[in-house]
Amino acid sequence: MIEHTNETNLAKRTVNQIEKVAGTYPGYRRAHAKGELYEATFTPTGEAGKYTMAAHLAETEVPAIVRFSNVWPNPQTPDALSVVKGMSVQFHLPNEEIANLVGTTIPIFITKSPQTFFDILNTVHSFQDFKPHFKDTVKLFAQYPESRAAFQMIRKLENTNSFATGRYYAIHAFYLVNEKGIRTPVKFEWEPEAGVESLSIKEMATKSVDYLSTELNERLDKAEVRFRLYIVIGESSDPTDDPTKEWPKERTRIEAGILRVKSKAPVVVDHYVFDPTVLPAGIECSDDEILRFRKEAYSESYNRRIKGE
Ligand code: HEM
Repeated sequence: MIEHTNETNLAKRTVNQIEKVAGTYPGYRRAHAKGELYEATFTPTGEAGKYTMAAHLAETEVPAIVRFSNVWPNPQTPDALSVVKGMSVQFHLPNEEIANLVGTTIPIFITKSPQTFFDILNTVHSFQDFKPHFKDTVKLFAQYPESRAAFQMIRKLENTNSFATGRYYAIHAFYLVNEKGIRTPVKFEWEPEAGVESLSIKEMATKSVDYLSTELNERLDKAEVRFRLYIVIGESSDPTDDPTKEWPKERTRIEAGILRVKSKAPVVVDHYVFDPTVLPAGIECSDDEILRFRKEAYSESYNRRIKGE
């Protein structure tokens, strides 16, 4: 069991609210419920060594566990209805240090504050049948202007034809810290070596309910699946506390390493919690409230699902 602190109240209420909107599926994650775990290795290029003392980014090849997922809390949701997809990576460093890096196929989040996220869930819950109609969407945009950019992006986002052909963004800003104590604001992105490929609506209609995991497992029978990790270097004008904003496209990007996804992980009980605030020396959380809130929300979800609730 993960210990709770006094700050868990909003996290508990948020997880309750997710359950109210989307239902409860005992034993499953309260978001990104449908997913599978894979074994991988990560090899750094060494280019990030001057920014961070974190071993896996600076110099050491490490084993990793990767979980690809659909966004919804209902594990039965057909893959074609999850335009946003998740890729969670847990790097296992020497000395039992862990680095989690959790990404989705959109580069920004819906809100800047946990309370607004909760309020949006509350508003969605009030919609008829929980299905936002056009007038509801307009209401939502008017009430929560910070969420506009993310919702518009999700509306235009195309479904990828494979978990292996998505570009995944960790969204939040983090700080890399080197041996001299110099802190650099950064963002992380995974670039698929297979290239980004999406499906037309017509192609999507032909896909089976679980096409993404079936396709990935078939792909892995033939060859490993690779992603390159890019680190975007922030400048002083780039917000580090606002996951609803992208940084300018022209920022310097360095290629930090390559992830090789090899095969399905032999998992009996899924104890993995990809809490994005679990980081080794050399990487620190930014002042982004959503990032820090995720620790509590994920622990709440874990405590429920591991008890079979
Ligand atoms: C208010 C903010 C958020 C809340 C309340 C929230 C809630 C949750 C919860 C409850 C889980 C299940 C955790 C578990 O049982 O292990 C989860 C998983 C996940 N979330 Fe979030 N989330 C938030 C923000 C984000 C953001 C900004 C991202 C983008 C990177 C994200 C990506 C994911 C992914 C990829 C997973 C699946 C993790 C896995 O594979 O185990 N979430 N989220």
